Amino acid sequence: MNSIISDIEIIKAKTTKINEVDFDNLKFGHVFTDHMLECNYKDGQWQTPKVVPYQAISLDPSSKIFHYGQSVFEGMKAYKDANDDVWLFRPLDNCKRLNISSKRLAIPELPEHYFMDGLNTLLKVDSDWIPKNEGSSLYIRPFVFASGNGFHASPADAYKFIIACAPSGSYFSGKVKVLIEEKYSRSANGGVGFAKAGGNYAGQFYPTQLAIEKGYQQVIWTDDNTHEYIEEAGAMNIFVRINDTLITGPTSDRILDGITRKSIIEIAKAEGIPIEVRKITVKEVVEAAKNGSLKEMFGAGTAAVISPIAGFGYKDEDYDLPELENTYASSLKKRITDIQTNKAEDPFGWRVKVE
Ligand code: PLP
Ligand code: COI
Repeated sequence: MNSIISDIEIIKAKTTKINEVDFDNLKFGHVFTDHMLECNYKDGQWQTPKVVPYQAISLDPSSKIFHYGQSVFEGMKAYKDANDDVWLFRPLDNCKRLNISSKRLAIPELPEHYFMDGLNTLLKVDSDWIPKNEGSSLYIRPFVFASGNGFHASPADAYKFIIACAPSGSYFSGKVKVLIEEKYSRSANGGVGFAKAGGNYAGQFYPTQLAIEKGYQQVIWTDDNTHEYIEEAGAMNIFVRINDTLITGPTSDRILDGITRKSIIEIAKAEGIPIEVRKITVKEVVEAAKNGSLKEMFGAGTAAVISPIAGFGYKDEDYDLPELENTYASSLKKRITDIQTNKAEDPFGWRVKVE
């Protein structure tokens, strides 16, 4: 049955796929819910979004997304608590970051209420799909791309904003081994590194494949100019613990302003964990690994949550991190996921109820 909530039309799927899904063995981003949000930009403005059945999209071969890569995306999660209430984590920050990314890619910015009301409506329609099992959640992928046609290398005149959702388990299985990059770069000053642009990820695939062939799962990107500073990983910001101090690099033109990263910085401050936001040299990390003061490294991101790093490779040498009993990674992961899943108080006001 079709219905209207606020001004968002809902066209319901005729059947559900939910009974085909094994919620106890969810991979990451592999199965998709019954509906998606769709919103089109044409004639110089965004049209009212609609919730429609999850479906394939038909595009002209000349659509500019295919040729010039005009696309940006976000990554968020919805969590269901013991009372079946549904929660989002800092969703307005994702909405604002999507528009920051869009602006850099010459994509028209989206009205915030289309994103927020559209997401809320979609989550209510597909709420049965939000997993309750520990470690699982509904991964939400809002994205915008150029659907307008033509081979002229200029911004398109039509775009699509879609939100698709996938009930998901963890992104990595177990600890991650990373390679500190010496040759390739993910981003450069004045570039698009700070944006969640699709092309940023395509550019990482080849160097990451080379790292995987050498036995690592992820690349740690270094600055494009000197390769002397640690920047971030493919889908995560990076934290390093030297002795008892937690350190993460400052954001810049080249680094994504991660919502998990900034939340961890605030949690660490509130918990009295010494935290420094400053440039980290590869040299100090290698020296700390050699002299035993490097206690932990971990990645932080929505998909990855907090992923401990088992060791890193640099200049053909491998460095293992110690196996500690009580890690910052595990206590910070518990703290942030307890807030996200409504298992603990949220003194920061980050949690938003879907209602
Ligand atoms: N850095 C990159 C390149 C990412 O793709 C992500 C994932 O979104 C992050 C960092 C972490 O950002 P957030 O914590 O907002 O998910
Ligand atoms: C996220 O953490 O949401 C991301 O966008 C990472 C993604 C590239 C899997």
